[in-house]
Amino acid sequence: MEKIDEILSRYSDRSELIDILEDIQEAFGYLSEENMKKVEQTIKIPLVEIYGVATFYTSFKLKPSGRHVIKICSGTSCHVKDADTLHSHLEEKLGIRNGETTGDGRYTLEQVNCIGACALAPAMMIDHEVFGQLTKEKIDSIIEQFK
Ligand code: FES
Repeated sequence: MEKIDEILSRYSDRSELIDILEDIQEAFGYLSEENMKKVEQTIKIPLVEIYGVATFYTSFKLKPSGRHVIKICSGTSCHVKDADTLHSHLEEKLGIRNGETTGDGRYTLEQVNCIGACALAPAMMIDHEVFGQLTKEKIDSIIEQFK
């Protein structure tokens, strides 16, 4: 049985849509059009409703992420320490905007609100690793480690 069929076999009710989408995202990393159509056909939920939920919650991704996800913090502690400049620096360096993935599929850039490392502000996370007291130069050398 294919993974998507295995996930959908656990559900039968449209009220479980969020749980279904969470399971799909966990298994595939994002919600592909193909998999959302599968939900439509199997659980009998109109595609427009599925898209409505998938786009309403920012935790759902409609495109695959890069190999490394960079989460640059813009929460209050980081903001007052010039996190916006660092965000712009990352955008410029990687040639992508917030929420985008580099053409080579290496990095996805996401601006987030606090990663729980306020004492280290300004901070960012790459995959599951936290980096603090950032400067442009420090960002440049960290990024090199994640090629
Ligand atoms: S505000 Fe940036 S880590 Fe908390």
